Amino acid sequence: MGREVVERKVPELDLRPLSNALGAEVCGLDITGEFTAAQTAAIRGAWNEHHILLFRDVDWSPAEHISFSRLFGELDIHEATPFDRLEGYPELLEVTNKPKNGKPSETRNTGRNWHSDYAYTNRPSASSMLYCVEKPPVGGDTMFCNMVRAYDELSPTMKEIVEGLHAVFDFSLVGRQNSEKTAELRLLNPPIAHPAVRVHPESGLKALYVSERASHFHGMSKAESRPIIDYLCRHATRHENVYRHSWHTGDLVLWDNRTTMHVALADFDQTKPRRMLRTTLLGEPSGFLVPKADEAA
Ligand code: OGA
Ligand code: MN
Repeated sequence: MGREVVERKVPELDLRPLSNALGAEVCGLDITGEFTAAQTAAIRGAWNEHHILLFRDVDWSPAEHISFSRLFGELDIHEATPFDRLEGYPELLEVTNKPKNGKPSETRNTGRNWHSDYAYTNRPSASSMLYCVEKPPVGGDTMFCNMVRAYDELSPTMKEIVEGLHAVFDFSLVGRQNSEKTAELRLLNPPIAHPAVRVHPESGLKALYVSERASHFHGMSKAESRPIIDYLCRHATRHENVYRHSWHTGDLVLWDNRTTMHVALADFDQTKPRRMLRTTLLGEPSGFLVPKADEAA
C-alpha cells in the first residue's frame, strides 16, 4: 500500500529568519512522507533564498532521510571519506565522537575549520543535510556564513581580482588529527583547483569559494596567496555574516555548500556523545587537478 500524499500548502511556507545574515526555520511542516514537485520546488526556492533551512522535531528513519534528500538531487555515497558510513546506507555519513568497534571514530573531529563540504573533490558537494540524533548537554554548535554576501561586500577591484583566481583545496588542511590517515586520504583526494567565485546554477547568485582548506591560488606562490586567503576567510566569517546553530535532537539543517561555509565547534565535553547523520548532494563536476610540479612553494 502506498503512503498517502498529504495535502500541504507548501508554497505558503511559514519561514522564520534564523539570523540577519542567512538561514530560515521552516515551521509547521511535516517532512516525512511524499511531496509533489510543486512542494519540493517551494522548499528549493526558500533554500536558494536563505542558503540554510532548519526543520525541527524531525523523527524519521535512515530510509526517510535518504528519500527526502533525493528530492533535491543525486546523493553522494562518501567514497572520498570511506568510513563511518551508516551500516547498509552508504548515503548516510555518521558524524560522531562515539567509538566505532572499540576504536575512536574517524569523524570525531569532522569540520573543525571553515569549509564547504568535499571542496577537495571533483564533484564538490552541492548541499548537505545534517540530522541531530544525539547531542551533548551543552555545546557542539555549528556556525555557518553567507558566501554570497561575502562576495557582494568586496570592492569592485577585489571582485575582479578574485574572479580571475582558482583556489587549490588540499586535504591536508582539513584539520584532522591522525596524520597517517590524512596522508592516505590526500592520495585519494589530491589537491584540486576550483574557481574562487562560483555562480549558483539555480539562483544565478555569485558566491566566494575559498576556505581555510585552500592552500594557495593556482599560478601563485603560497606566500603570495596566504594573505589574500586569510583576508577573504576573515572577511567571510565576520560575526555579522554568521549564524550559529545550537542543536536540539531532531533538528535537520540543510545547507547549500555553494553559497555557505560552516565549521563544527569543539565547544563541548568530548566524553559526552554527539551523533549526527548527514546526506550529501553531489555538485556539478568542477576543477582541475594541480600537477605536482605546480604545487606552489
Ligand atoms: C559536516 C560537518 C558539522 C557538525 O558534517 O559536514 O562539517 O557540526 N559537520 O558536525
Ligand atoms: Mn562539513
